[in-house]
Amino acid sequence: MTKAFYVTTPIYYVNDAPHIGHAYTTVAGDVLTRWRRQRQEDVFYLTGTDEHGTKVERTARDNGVEPQEWASKLVEESWKPVLDTIDAANDDFIRTTSDRHRIGVQKFWETLKENGYVYEADFEGPYCVGCEEFKRAGDLVDGKCPIHDRPVEMLHETNYFFKLAAFQDRLLEHYERHPAAVEPKSAYNEVVSFIRGGLDDISMSRSSVSWGVPLPWDEEQVVYVWFDALLNYITAIGYGQDQEKFDSIWPANVHLVGKDILRFHAVYWPAMLMAADLPLPEKVFAHGWLLVGGEKMSKSKLTGISPDQIIDDFGSDAFRYYFLRAIQFGQDGSFSWEDMAARYTSELANGLGNLASRATAMIGKYREGVLPEPGDYANADLALQELLVAAAERADAAMLQLDFSTGILAIKEFVDAVNVYVTEQEPWVLAKDEESAQRLDTVLYTICESLRAIAVLYHPVMPKSSVKIWESLGAAGELAEQAVTDVATWGQLAPGSTVTKGAALFPRLETT
Ligand code: ME8
Ligand code: MG
Repeated sequence: MTKAFYVTTPIYYVNDAPHIGHAYTTVAGDVLTRWRRQRQEDVFYLTGTDEHGTKVERTARDNGVEPQEWASKLVEESWKPVLDTIDAANDDFIRTTSDRHRIGVQKFWETLKENGYVYEADFEGPYCVGCEEFKRAGDLVDGKCPIHDRPVEMLHETNYFFKLAAFQDRLLEHYERHPAAVEPKSAYNEVVSFIRGGLDDISMSRSSVSWGVPLPWDEEQVVYVWFDALLNYITAIGYGQDQEKFDSIWPANVHLVGKDILRFHAVYWPAMLMAADLPLPEKVFAHGWLLVGGEKMSKSKLTGISPDQIIDDFGSDAFRYYFLRAIQFGQDGSFSWEDMAARYTSELANGLGNLASRATAMIGKYREGVLPEPGDYANADLALQELLVAAAERADAAMLQLDFSTGILAIKEFVDAVNVYVTEQEPWVLAKDEESAQRLDTVLYTICESLRAIAVLYHPVMPKSSVKIWESLGAAGELAEQAVTDVATWGQLAPGSTVTKGAALFPRLETT
């Protein structure tokens, strides 16, 4: 049995509706998923919602409803619909209030308790509800959480503790042996130095909170929200309930997270898995923050821009393209409407959209909508074929490394090269001379065959417009089934197929 390539996003808190920061992570995971599917790999892509904890409970009560009602309303009205809006091809959606999750969480902590990794003790410390985390004195700035810029709360509880400190050496050894287990490098270094600084045992339950998964051995307490949430990655795929399914998917190949939640994923989570004798994830990738006015865009601070606000104007493909193209994955980036509009116009409307419309219009005008058979290839044609080979290889290598901006750039540069080819070959001049008929056939075929490859390569990034290109070329088969690894094999479009010119792929923006 082969194991699926397993990609996850964080499960998002349902204290409010999604903003473009959440969509950013989900789009990145989606592009990786679709890219690998087009390498004929079996991929399992998971996302979902984190519904327990103080933050969600308080928000619900502030709005005068029970937490469960609040969570379900937000999931159905906001979090699930946004997946359609951004065209996510996830295989499952896990909610932490589901039975399958609760059963798995209880089973997991029962196991850790049996394995001797859980004990009871008194605890006092500052807690940030925004992070849902006990802070150490050194984490605070002026007594406030630097991520949420809000005062922390002093909590004193008798809790159950997870023996995190026992895993310090094993974690260090693991990261020494697997230098790519946390990326980018800056995140890896941060994790290793945090572990080297010493790990303390950590409270795994909350006695003053009731909104959560009850401890199986003490119904008075619930599992601390992070130690409930992290388990979604295994409860969603059958942990404790469907061993066969679990074995066919676990361990995760990539946990995508924002850098705000790196420590949970790269320190606590592997320690929990070690304590349960489960294999560790292959990689945690911590991407940067979308910033507003130089600060992290945030639900808690009400600085979120909803994906709809952008997609209504630009469409979902441009949304997916823009954030992965404009920001180096792993770095912070600022969103600006001006930059988004500028790239939309130059790279999508004038670059890709114009190429597709010129190509299909010329087949209509000069060849009555029928793709001609190419004659002998000239040097310029062969050079373009070679550029395609190089672009496809570069894109594939970059996408596999989650270097989305380089992957997209490689495809975009090929689009630019085809546009230059059109300009230089001047099919409109060839069309005036009957003796150039065969040369015109070859040039038109070369342009359309290049577009075929572009549609295949861009499908993981822009599933809607690439399908439109594919269909307008009259290409055979499902675009989603075309292998990105075979895209540069020349001559896949069948001469004689019907080419049609559709509506503009990226309509001009209305200027106001
Ligand atoms: O932390 N820029 O949920 P959350 C980029 N429930 N990405 C951003 C972002 C921004 N400004 N804001 C949010 C939680 N994100 C926990 C996770 S996982 C077991 C539990 C993205 O709703 C980014 O992926 O606060 C970040 O890590 C995540 O949303 C946090 O979402
Ligand atoms: Mg958050």
